[in-house]
Amino acid sequence: GGGRPGHGGDLRFSPVPPNKDDALRIPAGYRSHVVVRWGDPVLPGAPAFDFDKQTAEAQAKQFGYNCDYVTLFPMGQNKGLLWVNHEYTDEVLMFRGYSASAPTEEQIKIAIEAHGGSVVEVERVRATGEWRLTTNGRRRYNRRITAKTPMRFSGPAAGHTLVKTAADPTGRKPLGMLNNCGGGTTPWGTVLTAEENFDQYFVNGDKTNPNTARYTIPTDIPADSRRFDKVDERFDLAKHPNEVNRFGWIVEIDPFDPDSTPIKRTALGRFKHEAANSSVTREGHLAVYMGDDSRFEYIYKYVSKNRYIPGHDRHNRTLLDEGTLYVATFTGDSPKEEIDGSGKLPKDGAFDGSGEWIPLVTGDTSHVPGMSAAEVLIYTRTAADKVGATTMDRPEDIERNPVTGGVYVALTNNSNRTPAQADEANPRASNKHGHVLELVEGKGTRFAWSVPLVCGDPNDPSTYFAGYDKSKVSPISCPDNIAFDRDGNLWIATDGNALGKNDGLFVMPVQGPESGHVRQFLSVPVGAETCGPMVTADQRSVFVAVQHPGEIDGATPDNPASRWPDGHQPRPAVAVVWHTQGKKIGS
Ligand code: FEO
Ligand code: CA
Ligand code: CA
Ligand code: CA
Repeated sequence: GGGRPGHGGDLRFSPVPPNKDDALRIPAGYRSHVVVRWGDPVLPGAPAFDFDKQTAEAQAKQFGYNCDYVTLFPMGQNKGLLWVNHEYTDEVLMFRGYSASAPTEEQIKIAIEAHGGSVVEVERVRATGEWRLTTNGRRRYNRRITAKTPMRFSGPAAGHTLVKTAADPTGRKPLGMLNNCGGGTTPWGTVLTAEENFDQYFVNGDKTNPNTARYTIPTDIPADSRRFDKVDERFDLAKHPNEVNRFGWIVEIDPFDPDSTPIKRTALGRFKHEAANSSVTREGHLAVYMGDDSRFEYIYKYVSKNRYIPGHDRHNRTLLDEGTLYVATFTGDSPKEEIDGSGKLPKDGAFDGSGEWIPLVTGDTSHVPGMSAAEVLIYTRTAADKVGATTMDRPEDIERNPVTGGVYVALTNNSNRTPAQADEANPRASNKHGHVLELVEGKGTRFAWSVPLVCGDPNDPSTYFAGYDKSKVSPISCPDNIAFDRDGNLWIATDGNALGKNDGLFVMPVQGPESGHVRQFLSVPVGAETCGPMVTADQRSVFVAVQHPGEIDGATPDNPASRWPDGHQPRPAVAVVWHTQGKKIGS
């Protein structure tokens, strides 16, 4: 492969073998450190974590549960602000003797405070890569965002009737964010955090509204409901039907201003948002790529009306309020009969073709017959159905390669796709292990695409590793969060490994002769998924979130499936990994 960065030649680590260990496994020559874990004090006055005496008051000032998206906003070489999403809570693991049918009020209140996100100041204490929470006592930027933090709406759907409630007749002041899964950053130094499976927090949805089913909002009180409605009646849709429309958005948060109000950007649409990664287009506009993570859902792109102007902060902060929201259609270039769902390559040797971005709404103008602009933004799934968007195998994270410009999409899995439903962009029926798609933007709204990776055990003939020698690759299953390092290597975190082993972090070069050479860089403890990931700009540290360690059916605090990281109850945490000699991650 040669030594060219990004062409794989400098990725010399020995892959971590697939395993079921209750540990964070890393390659020889590397070290790891837990940076911050559930319950760690974040705000002034926060008590030390006590598993058996947790309170909502303590949780409001401590690091939240189930960390997902992670990003570092640098403040110089060895300091920064770490942003972390807290996607959801695992009550059965958080509370001894938890009863789903009768959660206590305090347990519900703890769960509300354990959602959202955290900003924590961190510093690198060794030149090689170990990061720790800043301990100097004046942690100016530390912040907790929860399911009740005051926020505001901006963009075309702000103030619309469908987002007005009794408590907020302006329709402009939503409270809190929920199920924040993946995310991204903006060029002006803010985080975009994505509300994903927000439906699960509500009860008694309106059966007569077809959008209730389209967004899988419960129309009764499900047995596994967290019962937020018991402590805050806005979660009961029989009483406050529009409250659910105030969730499912991309939320912009400024980590450098702890007093700033988080903004739900309605121009980016409402669905089960996985993530939102921005990049500046050739013409200078801001593009934001977004996936809707459910089976047979769609891939979206927002493009700002105005251009990004480096350094013009006030102007740039309007870019996410006026633009066009598109949804993707994919067309294969091989005959349909050659795509039989087996994963076998068609005669032209590639799953590939062309595609088009279909506009749904531009500013206040709807492109969807029968729906207003605000309706398109609030019921985006319904709008995308009407224009014939291509149904995908659970679109997760989407990232642009900073070196090649290619846009990579993680399609995590879709066991429900039938052979008849297989198409060239989703070529495998009963897709248990997922795939990765690359999209190359063309002229106007056109793009080209191909599938470089069809995941699974390399011995399984339905897998494809960009044509690379399959005897040399690591098995990989269920790609979820992705990231690029500065050299353009693709880092893939997995969730839900269907090969019976723990999830992990993998790297794959996407240029040169090493393209498709997937290698496992780390594995996470039993029951966990791997999130983040984030390779620092100097490539000396990689952050990963270890989400829901010990989340195994039947596990409880009296019978934990994982004891990571402390040897006691499992605690979701962010870890950092670095090379002991300070070499580039992957060396
Ligand atoms: Fe929260 Fe799509 O993973
Ligand atoms: Ca083809
Ligand atoms: Ca995810
Ligand atoms: Ca990512």
